[in-house]
Amino acid sequence: MNSGKFVLLFFLLPFVTVEAGFFDFLERFYCRCDFDGFYDINRILSDKDDLQHFDSEELKKDLRKSLYGQHIAMKTIQKAVSCFMKDSNPTKPLVLSFHGPPGVGKSYVTKIIARNIYKKGEKSKHVHTFMTDYYFPHKDRARIYQTQLREWIHGNVSCFPHSMFIFDEINKISSELIDTIKPFLDYNPQVDGVSFNKAIFIFISNSEMNAITNLTLDFWREGRDREEIQITSRGLETQITQNIYNDEKGGFWHSSLIDQHLIDHFIPFLPLELKHVRQCVLSEMAHLNMTEDFDLADKVARDMPFFPPEEKIFAVKGCKSVRQKLALYADD
Ligand SMILES: Nc1ncnc2c1ncn2[C@@H]1O[C@H](COP(=O)(O)OP(=O)(O)O)[C@@H](O)[C@H]1O
Ligand SMILES: [Mg+2]
Repeated sequence: MNSGKFVLLFFLLPFVTVEAGFFDFLERFYCRCDFDGFYDINRILSDKDDLQHFDSEELKKDLRKSLYGQHIAMKTIQKAVSCFMKDSNPTKPLVLSFHGPPGVGKSYVTKIIARNIYKKGEKSKHVHTFMTDYYFPHKDRARIYQTQLREWIHGNVSCFPHSMFIFDEINKISSELIDTIKPFLDYNPQVDGVSFNKAIFIFISNSEMNAITNLTLDFWREGRDREEIQITSRGLETQITQNIYNDEKGGFWHSSLIDQHLIDHFIPFLPLELKHVRQCVLSEMAHLNMTEDFDLADKVARDMPFFPPEEKIFAVKGCKSVRQKLALYADD
């Protein structure tokens, strides 16, 4: 360990607690960023091999096959990721922000993106998922988290430019913390000797997003096809940005990431209908090696709660807990 790291450890020691996440955070921070003594050269080279040849047609096929009922997300992600991955000299990292109710595929789609970029998919060392409650549990430690987060991202990107960072539950993170990574997301050729322009940043917001649900409901009530909904429909994108910018408790509250337009795409995920839940059940059947059974899929899907109370159109939990429900019907 060089003297710089020793000083940093010394500085952090008084704050070390046994709560989940903190040791893991440090361990990952040091192991991942360090080339002088913590990783051997073979390991580093095999890490680089983890990037696979990117094929935009494969990503398109994968999204079409695996992601149900999310036409806006499917199209935007396919185009944005393909364009970015094909660009040998991007001027900034790719920054995406996902919004929508629970269980509709926001986290799931990050796995689809990861498996199209890295050989080890979501399990790649270069995919870093930050869950707010786990990694940043104490609001009063904001300053320490800021330093750790910056160093961690900087260290990992300096080792591997195509790193991917996923911030789950951005609605729970402090806006100061998120704002500290702004220099990495901007049009900067380098920050402290490192270019971030090949990295991917994904923010996932799980906060109540009435704008998305209400718009989808309006289209349904008007008898219009949900696929007619666009990001610009009835000012949807503006509503999303205004909501998160004005949400005092959320990570984007008055954030410079928003007012300096550093987020490339705000992507709404729509609430799922019965037919999508049915598709999720069928997909789970395949995972569990069960014989495909459409009647059973229908039964399991109908067993899930739906809203609004009168019309019962959208699945309250999306496709969450579908596997658990299905297990109740599986033969012993
Ligand atoms: N739109 C979807 N298409 C296919 N599967 C989905 C979809 N939405 C959710 N699922 C299934 O439900 C699980 C939970 O969804 P997840 O993406 O974790 O929800 P969230 O939107 O809250 O992040 C996923 O792992 C996936 O199996
Ligand atoms: Mg999620």
